Amino acid sequence: MAKISIIGAGNVGATCAYTLLKSNVADIALIDVVEGLAKGKSLDLMQAGAIEGYDKKITGGTDYKDAEGSDIVIITAGLARQPGMSRSDLLGKNAGILKSVLTNITAIVPNAVILVVTNPADAMAQLAYMVTGYSPNRVLGMSGVLDSARYKYFIAQELGVPMASVDGMVIGAHGDSMLPVVSQTRVDGKPLAELLNRDKIDGIINKTKFGGAEIVSYLKTGSAFYAPGAASARMANAILNDKKEILPCSVYAQGQYGLKGIYIGLPARLGRGGAEEIVEVPLSPDETEALGRSVSSAKALLAELTELFADLTNYKNLSQ
Ligand SMILES: NC(=O)c1ccc[n+]([C@@H]2O[C@H](COP(=O)([O-])OP(=O)(O)OC[C@H]3O[C@@H](n4cnc5c(N)ncnc54)[C@H](O)[C@@H]3O)[C@@H](O)[C@H]2O)c1
Repeated sequence: MAKISIIGAGNVGATCAYTLLKSNVADIALIDVVEGLAKGKSLDLMQAGAIEGYDKKITGGTDYKDAEGSDIVIITAGLARQPGMSRSDLLGKNAGILKSVLTNITAIVPNAVILVVTNPADAMAQLAYMVTGYSPNRVLGMSGVLDSARYKYFIAQELGVPMASVDGMVIGAHGDSMLPVVSQTRVDGKPLAELLNRDKIDGIINKTKFGGAEIVSYLKTGSAFYAPGAASARMANAILNDKKEILPCSVYAQGQYGLKGIYIGLPARLGRGGAEEIVEVPLSPDETEALGRSVSSAKALLAELTELFADLTNYKNLSQ
């Protein structure tokens, strides 16, 4: 029986649980540090099944024992952005939360694939890799599926076409330096550069980069969760069902794209083994340069993390 645990029953965690339940793929354990929160939401979600027609089981609580036997653990525990904050501003607080979550997880579910959603996602995935000591394919972060969804949405809006007509992806760090891969973007098979001029494309890139911040500015009390929840569920689905689907995610580069020892958004083939392969797609010289800049920003954040938590150097998996 397939099982997914979701740590953090807030906006993203609960939305992800609902999306997964509706696709009937696995039983779910929802865990949150706040007494009653995961329990209440799990009952609500179970009862929605009578309307929606799903019959997988969802439990909720504060006890990590509920995660036992999970194939995948999705971590959404942590603080979300408030207006004026960047994802990087969450680094110290969320790293502390993640360390405690991971200590529990490694003890209870030593064989699961870990999907980190908590921001800043690349640094948190790297932290998870270091703390768990798992092989890098079993630890990945959610970033590019969400960023690519925003990119596709803005292209479809600009051209007045269905979102399904747009094929494109965003790689690089999950932050302001993310990189929509324009050279590989197609709309109904046609290169984007043949359909829009450079100014329009730059406008779309900009909107994509700040799409999350735009939502935060409207919500005022937190950040986006429908698309992030759906993106996390899509990745979990690809892993659980061994789809071998190529999705952009935060993965540990080991020489691909000339990068090594860093978690960064790259296209990866997802299957039961997690991120089974990092797939190299051709990039233009400008895009290669932009990816380099994005990696530098991810490295700067990682340096900050190592400074904040000196004990990271004791962990089994170290960045090279
Ligand atoms: N990677 C991405 O693309 C992406 C997208 C959206 C949100 N996020 C991140 O996901 C995280 C969650 O966002 P949200 O909107 O669901 O926030 P939220 O505040 O609605 O939910 C967070 C939940 O985590 C719980 N929590 C805190 N510490 C915990 C602990 N030690 N153990 C278990 N649970 C704990 C809280 O009680 C809360 O219910 C944030 O860090 C946010 O920045 C990432």
